[in-house]
Amino acid sequence: MISAIPPMRPAAQPLNSFALSDLLSIQDLSPSDVREIFDLARMIKSRPAMFQGALAGKQFVLMFEKPSLRTRITFEVGITKLGGHAMFMEYGAGGIEGREKLADVAHNLERWVDGVILRTFKHSTVTGMAQHASIPVINALTELEHPCQALADYFTLQEKFGDVTGIKLAFVGDGNNVAHSLMLTAAALGSNFALATPVGYGPDKNVVKAAQKMAAKTGARIEISNDCKAAVAGADAIYTDVWASMGQESEAADRDKLFREFQVNRGLMKLASPRALFLHCLPAHRGDEVTDEVLDSAQSVVFDEAENRLHVQNAILVLLASQGTRHPGRMKTAHA
Ligand code: CP
Ligand code: NVA
Repeated sequence: MISAIPPMRPAAQPLNSFALSDLLSIQDLSPSDVREIFDLARMIKSRPAMFQGALAGKQFVLMFEKPSLRTRITFEVGITKLGGHAMFMEYGAGGIEGREKLADVAHNLERWVDGVILRTFKHSTVTGMAQHASIPVINALTELEHPCQALADYFTLQEKFGDVTGIKLAFVGDGNNVAHSLMLTAAALGSNFALATPVGYGPDKNVVKAAQKMAAKTGARIEISNDCKAAVAGADAIYTDVWASMGQESEAADRDKLFREFQVNRGLMKLASPRALFLHCLPAHRGDEVTDEVLDSAQSVVFDEAENRLHVQNAILVLLASQGTRHPGRMKTAHA
């Protein structure tokens, strides 16, 4: 009997003021978007049962061109906890664009799934997917940015310090994807950020320009130098990441020599505030960018950061899913 067919569920109503259809870069987020993600993450973390069905019936695909522990597991576990389903696809040498045109991949995916989570070499693969697919696209790390990581890190700092405006985070090492996303998040939150890299390994100029533009509005202070001691002076937290990121393995031996003085060890930690925390996105190369002594110390919050990946990404997924159901041809929106 036809009457046995249940009525169609109404399209999900936006829960909030969050207006993005993708998370590609921290540059797409306004300060209030970042705060909205943090508020929801705090709620999901403290009352997970309330969100058990938030993604019921929704399908997500993770397409990764690079290895992962934290990002893959936190997205898969997070989607499952929210009642959705996640599939994982790992790519070989050709990458996501190796077998067919990116636009064709996107137009297939949008017919089947409710969101795509991408870890790629080229940032343009993620932005291209978002341009072609009508479903939400989440950047799970590119050569340029690691937005989910930086949001989880600032969420962790907010948990530890209560308020991140006025604190100083010093990032010591490579001016890489993680440094870029942290700098942009600091700028959005009105927080102070000092980056020290070896000469020739500084951040992308356009990212710095965007961070400075946002900082002028929020009151954040963004400092970039080649002096790790000056950067960490009085810092409330010190962050580092590997000296050679995924895809840069052939440069590892050269970088090893150049970056050695940027190692976070007990001596460098002593130049920071006595209450300073140590952060790292992980995986860590113990004995290179950080010593065991610092990584395993009471000041280290690296596993809190890793846990918070789950809660912050769950908030991102719920906010993006609340923008509406699949709608081929939907215009993508971005924060102006
Ligand atoms: N921090 C992070 O993104 O870890 P994975 O590379 O293990 O996902
Ligand atoms: N900068 C590192 C981060 C890993 C989580 C990389 O891109 O390999």
